Amino acid sequence: MVRKNKRVMKELKLRSANWFNRKGKDGFIYRAWMKNQGIPSDMFEGKPVIGICNTWSELTPCNAHFRDLAEAVKKGVLEAGGFPVEFPVMSLGETLIKPTAMLYRNLASMDVEESIRANPLDGVVLLCGCDKTTPSLVMGACSVDIPTLVISGGPMLKGHWKGKNIGTSDVWRFDAAHKLGQITDEEFVEAEACMARTQGHCAVMGTASTMAVMVEALGLSLPNNASIPAADARRKVLSRLSGRRIVEMVKEDLTMSKILTRKAFENAIMINAAIGGSTNFVIHLLAIAGRIGVDLNIDDFDKFSQRIPLLANIQPSGENYMEDLYYAGGIPALIREMKSLIHGDAITVNGKTIDENCSTAEVYDRHVIGTIQQPFKPESGIVVVKGNLAPNGAVIKPSAATPALLKHSGKAVVFENIEDYHARVDDPELEIDATSIMVLKNVGPKGYPGMAEVGNMSIPKKLLEQGVTDLVRISDGRMSGTGFGTVVLHVSPEAAVGGTLALVMNGDIISLDAHNRTLQLEVSEKELAIRRETWKQREKIHSRGYVHLYQTHVEQAHLGADMDFLRGGSGSTVARDSH
Ligand code: FES
Repeated sequence: MVRKNKRVMKELKLRSANWFNRKGKDGFIYRAWMKNQGIPSDMFEGKPVIGICNTWSELTPCNAHFRDLAEAVKKGVLEAGGFPVEFPVMSLGETLIKPTAMLYRNLASMDVEESIRANPLDGVVLLCGCDKTTPSLVMGACSVDIPTLVISGGPMLKGHWKGKNIGTSDVWRFDAAHKLGQITDEEFVEAEACMARTQGHCAVMGTASTMAVMVEALGLSLPNNASIPAADARRKVLSRLSGRRIVEMVKEDLTMSKILTRKAFENAIMINAAIGGSTNFVIHLLAIAGRIGVDLNIDDFDKFSQRIPLLANIQPSGENYMEDLYYAGGIPALIREMKSLIHGDAITVNGKTIDENCSTAEVYDRHVIGTIQQPFKPESGIVVVKGNLAPNGAVIKPSAATPALLKHSGKAVVFENIEDYHARVDDPELEIDATSIMVLKNVGPKGYPGMAEVGNMSIPKKLLEQGVTDLVRISDGRMSGTGFGTVVLHVSPEAAVGGTLALVMNGDIISLDAHNRTLQLEVSEKELAIRRETWKQREKIHSRGYVHLYQTHVEQAHLGADMDFLRGGSGSTVARDSH
């Protein structure tokens, strides 16, 4: 038995053998301290060691069920002849972390990268759920590039309140209704428990669901990973099957870079358009491409989205919820509708192509998944606008916008930062009307810092009272994937580095034309040059700690807001290999 296992190990060239197959003092230490967990000797003999990278945390409620999922993965790994080891990494809960979870995405990715490389792992399963836990784990794993498989936590079941289905997108509606006195304080509190009633992440096509679809579209997960609800027993089945599969992936040496090809990224962009995915998709996919070394730029999102209509009728662009998408056939059924458009030969973690994975998938509910000929909306995806206000680009999600505002000129109402916005937005004296354009500065990567999800600023109360439900809003920040409106985001360069956004003044005319991809500040170059002379950085630059590192090295939004020194990878080799 031992001899046979040694033969397999030689063939497999397990990196964990550098620890557990060592002779002498080093091997003694590596094995002995693992044995204090009750692990028998034969677990160290030529078995692929599978790390289960867990973002479980009670401070990340969307991922609070991950201990159960990890147990299912372990069973699968053991069944396939592997040796599972679970380890924690920094967990980013979208709702509680201040000032914004995005500030820590890159930090968490460093934790993941170094944890994988430094330990005796042959393959890794990433347990991801709430928004930033997916990109941070995928980014970190890309920089090591060993066989890796992603399991998402799954969406919550849809909420129910007063006879209606509700989800995270209703938070913005409840807030507006509460401000207008249309719902009471008591009703507001009651709705909280009715919305988040099961384990899992946001039930709409917010950023977490978008990220789960992204990993399935990239080929990093087993089919149906994105939409099985967290509370559905089939989520555990998928986890167990993923545990079995990662052991095989190690034997096949199916590393991330073999899956994450340029074709996989193009597929992800097209599929994101078809689902009406979050604008955050842009920033995270760019960062992932930067880590794995695929040449992708912001214009690719517009280019590959253009011919894709909205196929998934899911909130916030549509009406339904993620569990409805699963019952309707899930992402495999949606991808099958796009067969003629995507790269069907892209390989996925199960060793099959994306075409093979989806070839028998059926659509069971045409109210949820449309066809290319009969989509829910003709326009979808991400539109990239450029002009003097955003020379490097800004993004807008047309499926969540008011069509009439996609081409609009209006006077700017400027908020210099988030504090200025909060102080004045509901001031009855604020000079603003239904044709105005709200501009929020200094909420970008460096300025906030961390590029907060505040771009879909609430409409001023006095306009809500007049029945205004949408305005063009422009910022260098991001928007929650559950948000909606005619919201121009990710303006690059941001205000804090002296981008044109920093020079906008109250009353300036701004012209947005999403159809022609332009965003123009109608102020002469001469006047802008004068304003630039007197512009001063007003946001605090931190002098210590991680925030100092982040502000010093974070790249602009159109590059993915990763840190410049984290681009690419360092592989899986440990530099100094002795105890
Ligand atoms: Fe975690 Fe929405 S808050 S996914």
